[in-house]
Amino acid sequence: MKKIGILSSGGDAPGMNAAIRSIVRSTIYNGGEIYGIYDGYKGLMEGAIEEMNVSSVADIIHRGGTILRTSRSKEFMTEDGLKRAVNVAKVYDLDGIIVIGGDGSGRGALSLAKEGIKTFLIPSTIDNDLGYTDYTVGFMTAVENVVDAISKIRDTSGSHGRANVIEVMGRRCGDLAIYSGLAGGAESIIIPEMPYDLAQISKTVLRGVRRGKKHHIIVLSEGVGNAYDIAKEVQENTGVDTKVSVLGYIQRGGTPSSFDRILAANLGARAVELVFSGRGNMAIGTKDGAIMEMDLEEALNTKKDLDGEVYNLVERLSI
Ligand code: F6P
Repeated sequence: MKKIGILSSGGDAPGMNAAIRSIVRSTIYNGGEIYGIYDGYKGLMEGAIEEMNVSSVADIIHRGGTILRTSRSKEFMTEDGLKRAVNVAKVYDLDGIIVIGGDGSGRGALSLAKEGIKTFLIPSTIDNDLGYTDYTVGFMTAVENVVDAISKIRDTSGSHGRANVIEVMGRRCGDLAIYSGLAGGAESIIIPEMPYDLAQISKTVLRGVRRGKKHHIIVLSEGVGNAYDIAKEVQENTGVDTKVSVLGYIQRGGTPSSFDRILAANLGARAVELVFSGRGNMAIGTKDGAIMEMDLEEALNTKKDLDGEVYNLVERLSI
C-alpha cells in the first residue's frame, strides 16, 4: 500500500485544485493513502498534514486558488528547514510527495529528492516558464483573464481614441504577454526576453493613428520597465493620450479553463501512477501535446525558449 503526500507551493494558479482532485482520487482508486500537506513546504516542516478522502476534493474542480493553500517559505530553503521537512516526511513514511507549483517549488522538490525523499512535480504557474513542458497548469486560464481585460479596455479606449499600456505578470518569462497579446490583438509587446525600443513602439501607434485605428494596445511584462514611465514617453512621442492598467492578481484568480482542468487531471493521474510504479524524482508535463515525464533535475535545467513565432506574429498582425 502506497502513502502519498501532496502539497501546492509558490504562486497559486487556476487548476491547482483540479490537480489535487485528480491526485487524491487516483491514489484512493489505486488503493493508496493520500495526505494533504497545508501551506506548501512550510506545512511540511511543521507537520500540518491531514489524511484526505474522496470527499475532501468534492466541489473544487471549478475553483481557482488551492484548497491546500500555498506559501513561499524562506525557512524551508535553510539547512535546518530542509532537515525538519525531511524528518516529517520520514515520520509519515511517505512513498512520494507530489508538489504542484512552478520553478521554485520544483527546486524545493529537488532539495528533498537529494535527501532521499521521492518527489514529483506537477508544473503549475501562470508564468509558463518551465522549459521542459509545453504548458503549465494555470497559464491558459491566466491568458483568458488577460484577454478578457484587454477586450474591456479596448471598448473604453476605442471610445476615447487612447493608447493603453497593460502590465501583466510573468516576471522573467514573456509567454503571458505574448499569448494574451496575440489573442487580444495588441499592437506591441514588451517582454523580458527581447530588447524594446519606445521610438519604434511610438511609430507603431502613429501608424495606427494614420490609418484610423481607435485604440492602441501595448502589453508589458511586469518588471521589464515602469509602465507609467513607458506610457508617459509614448504619450510625449505621439500626442496620443496613453493610460496604464496594471492587471495584478486578477490574472491569477477565477475558475480554471477546461484546458487547465484537463491538463491537471492528466498530469495528476500520471504522477500517481509513477509513485505506484516505485519511481521517484520526476517532473511530469507534456511535450507536443503528449503526457511525458523526465528526471526532475534535468527538467528544471531545461532552458525555456521564447516562442519567437508567436512574438513575431503579433507584430505582423498589428499593421
Ligand atoms: O510565479 C507566479 C507569479 O504570479 C508571478 O508572475 C508574479 O510575479 C508573482 O507570482 C507574484 O507573486 P506573489 O503572490 O508572491 O506576489
